[in-house]
Amino acid sequence: MAIIGTTYVIKNNKKIKGYAIRFGSYLHFLAVDKKCRGKGIGRKVIKKALPKIRTLRVHINNKKAIQLYVSLGFQIIGTDRRLTGLQYLMKR
Ligand SMILES: CC(C)(COP(=O)(O)OP(=O)(O)OC[C@H]1O[C@@H](n2cnc3c(N)ncnc32)[C@H](O)[C@@H]1OP(=O)(O)O)[C@@H](O)C(=O)NCCC(=O)NCCS
Repeated sequence: MAIIGTTYVIKNNKKIKGYAIRFGSYLHFLAVDKKCRGKGIGRKVIKKALPKIRTLRVHINNKKAIQLYVSLGFQIIGTDRRLTGLQYLMKR
């Protein structure tokens, strides 16, 4: 069975500056172009997907992302050791 994801993007001058990928109610990925960070694009793109997102994982040392998620109502409900390191599991 194929897993279908949904991608949300923020563009500027036809170039993608930020995007989020959602699988069901899980936020699979969120990223903003390095040169464009700290300008509200991350918040804008996740807000597009937010009504459908309930859970996500984030590296425990990713303070920026954790702060963003907490400000949107997510809470840490546990930790999860993945191949890429220790992550928080967050839910709202
Ligand atoms: C995390 C990321 C998506 C944030 O995108 P952004 O466009 O820089 O974020 P915004 O400018 O929209 O800021 C949103 C919130 O993030 C947090 N934040 C952003 N920059 C921050 C910084 N330098 N220090 C602390 N918190 C910060 C704040 O809570 C901020 O809210 P505020 O502006 O009301 O204070 C971006 O840094 C990124 O792409 N990082 C690399 C990929 C990544 O870590 N993705 C998340 C994986 S789970």
